Amino acid sequence: MALGETQSHAADHIAVADLTDDQAAQELERLAQAVAQANVAYHTNDAPDITDAEYDALKRRNSAIEARFPGLKRSDSPSDQVGGAVAEGFGKIAHRVRMLSLENGFADDDVTEFDQRVRRYLNLSDDAPLAYTAEPKIDGLSLSLRYENGQLIQAATRGDGEVGENVTANARTIADIPHVLTGAPALLEVRGEVYMSHADFAALNDRQAASGGKTFANPRNAAAGSLRQLDASITKSRPLRFFAYAWGDLSDPLGATQSGSIERLKSLGFMVNPLTCVCDGPADLLAHYHQIEAQRATLGYDIDGVVYKVDNLELQRRLGFRSTTPRWALAHKFPAELAWTLLEAIDIQVGRTGALSPVARLRPVTVGGVVVSNATLHNEDYIAGIGGDGQPIRGGKDIRVGDWVQVYRAGDVIPKVADVDLSKRPQGTEKYVFPDTCPKCGSAAPREPGDAIRRCSGGLICPAQAVEKLKHFVSRAAFDIEGLGAKQIEMFFADDTLPIREPADIFTLAARDSANLTRLKNRDGFGETSAKKLFQAIDDKRKIPLGRLIFALGIRHVGENGSSILAQHYGTWDAFESAMTAARIGEGPEWQDLLNIDGVGEVLAASVITTLQQQAERASIDRLVAELDVQPAQARAVADSPVAGKTVVFTGTLEQMTRAEAKARAEALGAKVAGSVSAKTDIVVAGPGAGSKAAKAEELGILTLDEQGWLDLIGGA
Ligand code: IVH
Repeated sequence: MALGETQSHAADHIAVADLTDDQAAQELERLAQAVAQANVAYHTNDAPDITDAEYDALKRRNSAIEARFPGLKRSDSPSDQVGGAVAEGFGKIAHRVRMLSLENGFADDDVTEFDQRVRRYLNLSDDAPLAYTAEPKIDGLSLSLRYENGQLIQAATRGDGEVGENVTANARTIADIPHVLTGAPALLEVRGEVYMSHADFAALNDRQAASGGKTFANPRNAAAGSLRQLDASITKSRPLRFFAYAWGDLSDPLGATQSGSIERLKSLGFMVNPLTCVCDGPADLLAHYHQIEAQRATLGYDIDGVVYKVDNLELQRRLGFRSTTPRWALAHKFPAELAWTLLEAIDIQVGRTGALSPVARLRPVTVGGVVVSNATLHNEDYIAGIGGDGQPIRGGKDIRVGDWVQVYRAGDVIPKVADVDLSKRPQGTEKYVFPDTCPKCGSAAPREPGDAIRRCSGGLICPAQAVEKLKHFVSRAAFDIEGLGAKQIEMFFADDTLPIREPADIFTLAARDSANLTRLKNRDGFGETSAKKLFQAIDDKRKIPLGRLIFALGIRHVGENGSSILAQHYGTWDAFESAMTAARIGEGPEWQDLLNIDGVGEVLAASVITTLQQQAERASIDRLVAELDVQPAQARAVADSPVAGKTVVFTGTLEQMTRAEAKARAEALGAKVAGSVSAKTDIVVAGPGAGSKAAKAEELGILTLDEQGWLDLIGGA
C-alpha cells in the first residue's frame, strides 16, 4: 500500500506536538499497520511498494509519537522491530537441497579416524590414494544463493536446514555477491558464509555506540544481526562479505572435484577462500591445519577451525549423508578458548525428563569474544571431582561456591567449567552438597544405579518438568509454532485465567478464549491482531507429521532421528500407539518388532513403552492427539525406486561395498533396512558366509539375492 493510498485518517497530518491522546493512539495503530504491510510487501512478496524514504518517514513519525506518549506504545510497535531479533516477518524458503551442518573434530586423532571411516565406508585400503580439500571454517552465518539463467533470484539463510528465511533483498546489498553470472549452469545454488571483518566490526561498533545504538558482542553476531534486518537499507549500511564454499541445487555439475568446483565458482566471480588447498591424507591435512592456525590472528576475520572435504565428488556422492551431516566432511575445530573467573553460585535446573543439572553462575568473563556468565557443571560427580568411569578427574579436586574456576567454550557449545585453582580457594568454603530432592517440586530425586544424573521423580506434577516439556514441544524441530516460544510458554504456564499446562492446552486455547479474544487481548504483549495471529499459527500446526509428533512428546532417549525411524516403521499414529500399548518390555512380538528396527536399541524401546503406558502421561498424550490431525509417515517418495517401502535384510559379507554404504543406499531408495529376518521381510541380500538368516529366508520363502542381484535390482541408482 503506497502512502498516498493510506486510508484518510483524521490525525495523519497533525504535527506530533499537537496530537491529543486519542489521536496519538489512532496514529500509532495506523503506523503499526502501515509498517507491517510494507514489511510484507517488501520481504514476503519481494515487491516493495513504498520507497525507503517513505518507510523511514513512517518509522520516524511512530518513534516521535511514542517519545511524547510513552504510555501508548503498542505491543506490536514498529520501533521494536529494528536492529534486534527480527526473524518474524521474513518470508520462508524451503531449501530444495537441505543445508547441512558439519561433524566436529578437536584432536589430531579425530582427523585420522575421519580418514579411516571414509576408507572403511568406501572399501579403500590404507594406501589407496584419497585426496581431501582443507579450508578455513569461517565463523559467520551460511547463506544459499539461487541463480536462474545467471540471475540472482533468491537468497535464504540456513534456518533449520530445511526451511530458511528469505533475505534476498538484503543479500543483494552485499558487494561480494554477484547479481548476474555469465557462463553459469542454468540453475545454480551457491552456498557460503556471510561474515564481517575485524576492522569493519570495530568501526561498526564505534558508530553504533556513538549513535546510541546496539553494539555487538562479536563479528559473527554483527554479521547475523546485519543480514537479518527487515529493513534492507540497514543491511546495506553494514559492511558484510561473503565466501563461497559449497553448492546446493544444480542443473549441471561445476566440476568433478570439490577443488575444481570451487575454482569454477571463483571464475564465475565469487570470493573463495585463498587458503583452500588439496591435501593427500591426514598428515598433510594436519600440517595445513597448523599452518592456518598460525595465520589465524592475522587473517582479519574470525575462523573457528579448518574444514576437510573428500575432493572427488563421485566419492562424496557414494558417502552421502547422515541425518544432519555429510560423511565426507569434517570440521576440525581450534582448541577451546579459556578464561578464569569466580564461581558465585550453583543453581540446579530441572530438565524435561527430570534431570537435575547444576549450572555455574559466574562473575561475567569474556571467553573468546563472548561474555560468559553461566556454564554447565554436568552432574553431581563432576562437581565432586569424579569422572564418568568413577575415577578421579582434575586430580580429584572438587568445585565449591567461592572458587576461582576455569571456563572454556568450544564453538557454539555451552561453556563448561573445566578446572579449579585451589591456591585461590577462600577459607571457610564447604563442599557443595547436591540436592537429593527436586528444588522445584520437592519430590525425591534419586540416582539410578550406573547413572551420574539425579532425576526428579515428580513426573507431571513437577512444574519445571512440565514447562520444559512444553518448551521442547513448541521448539523448532517439534511443533515450531510461530509466536509461541519459550518466553510465551513461561507466561502461559504461570497464568491462571488462560493457562497452558500441557500440550493439549495449546490447541484448546482459542476455544477457551472464545469471549472475543478478550482474555488474551488484554494480556501483556498481545493485541487483537497478535492474538488472532497466534490462534491461526496454532491451528496451522494441527496437521502434523507423525515423526514430528513423536519427537515433540519429549520421550527420553528419543531424538529427532529416533522419532523419524519410529514414524517410518509404524506409519500411522494408530499403529504406533497400539503397538506401544500392547508391548511388554523384554518379551513378546511387539518388543521384538521394535528391536528389529535398525537404529532402535533396548534403552530407546523401553523408554517409549514406559512413557506410552504411564497412565497420567498417556492420558495427556491422548488429549493432545484428539486435537490433532496426525499425518502418516510416507515411505519416502522415491521416483522409480523398485525397493521403496520394502524391508531389506543384509547378511553375510558384501564385496562391492560396505554394510554401511549398502544400508544408506537402500534407505535413500525408500527401503527399510532391518537387522533380522521375519515374515515382514521382503528381500534378503545374502553374501558369502550368510548363515541362519539366509536359511530362515529360504524357510519363509523370502526373495533372496546375492550382492550382484541386489545391485542389478536397484540398477544404476
Ligand atoms: S561446508 C554440507 N565449508 O559451518 C556441508 N561450511 O558447522 C556444507 N562453514 O553450516 C558446509 N566455513 O555455515 C563448509 N569452509 C566451509 C565453512 C562452512 C564455515 C559453516 C557453515 C556450516 C557450518 C557447520
